[in-house]
Amino acid sequence: MPIGNAFVTKDDFKTEYFYHMQVAVCRSCATLQVIDVPDPDQMFHDHYAYYASTSAFMSKHFKAMAEDIIARFVSKESPFVVEIGSNDGITLQHFANAGIPHLGVDPSSNVADAAREKGIEMLVDFFNRDTAEQIVTKHGKADVFIATNTMHHIEDINSVAAGVAKLLKPKGVMVQEDPYLGDMIEKTAFDQLYAEHMYIWSVTSLGNAFGRHGLEIFDIETNDFHGGCMRYFLCHKGAYEPTPRLKAQQEKEKALGLAKPETYDAFRRACEQSRTKLVELVRRLKSEGKRIVGYGATAKSATIINYCGLGPDDIEFICDTTPIKQQKFSPGAHIPVVPPAEFSANYPDYAVLFAWNHFTEIDAKEQAFRKNGGKWIIPVRLVEVI
Ligand code: TMP
Repeated sequence: MPIGNAFVTKDDFKTEYFYHMQVAVCRSCATLQVIDVPDPDQMFHDHYAYYASTSAFMSKHFKAMAEDIIARFVSKESPFVVEIGSNDGITLQHFANAGIPHLGVDPSSNVADAAREKGIEMLVDFFNRDTAEQIVTKHGKADVFIATNTMHHIEDINSVAAGVAKLLKPKGVMVQEDPYLGDMIEKTAFDQLYAEHMYIWSVTSLGNAFGRHGLEIFDIETNDFHGGCMRYFLCHKGAYEPTPRLKAQQEKEKALGLAKPETYDAFRRACEQSRTKLVELVRRLKSEGKRIVGYGATAKSATIINYCGLGPDDIEFICDTTPIKQQKFSPGAHIPVVPPAEFSANYPDYAVLFAWNHFTEIDAKEQAFRKNGGKWIIPVRLVEVI
């Protein structure tokens, strides 16, 4: 597999980086992870291709989250909020606008620059035990530690958990949200797995990982973003009462068998079935002379495209709104990435919606494609055509 967000130019083809992607589940702590992941410097750098603020729905979602956090957890005396993987400031801008002292930590300098332009204080670095100590020395302890769509990107999770334990005030809260294992299995959304998404967390596994460092989950919330995310609220052990919602989710995970090997055997079989269905569908449509493109050059799409062995002969191009991805080629399979104007200039018969998690937003704005007879191919839930 290539790195999901590593869009390439023709000059890069010969030196493109590939790694052997294998996914495993730990029998003792039930953590699902990609093993042998590439070095973090290969993935998070000065040309990181993902800008969170490209989605209007996501911007709204994180504004609501920031308002909720400000109301519930930010203290009046010496407020301080830290966010890691803060990207282009999609969430922290709301703390900055409210005049709340904050610090964004992100190793990718290009997205950090975009955040600085919004008046956000940034530290361009990886968050770990050492960075946490430096932050405490310089700014003091934090009321809130936020990580959205980030914790699943960090291999050395023990160093992060130790850092959070050092950073949080006694009643401080960690709010972490990322794609949820239960949803990935239920939807056969194997595209959640790629180099940058090396862990897919559950209440059980995240609780185990952070539990080793004196932290515990006391509440959760679910949402449909990124194809199904879980928001976890953690604190120092005993600082807050566990909520009934948390207990109910723990029971649900037992019923889903998230700690049982059989669950993952069934998931693997479903992934293989999904691959066969997608490849057969695309090849049949092509043999009927249909035009197929991709919509959303997501990092997730690299997993689907390369796992299914699809290429530019199957998928003409992938359109995407992110300028840094345009005029490049998709990682591994080298499908051209183009601006959305090319999609609307000559609508195809089918578009594989690689950004299937943004279906509502994209379908609403692409009504002309639909009126023209265009159909979406949704690559999850064992492949749907709508
Ligand atoms: P994500 O699923 O990781 O958020 O990535 C979404 C990708 O899809 C990102 O590259 C931007 C792209 N995109 C579009 O091209 N058009 C859209 O309307 C939306 C919402 C996303």
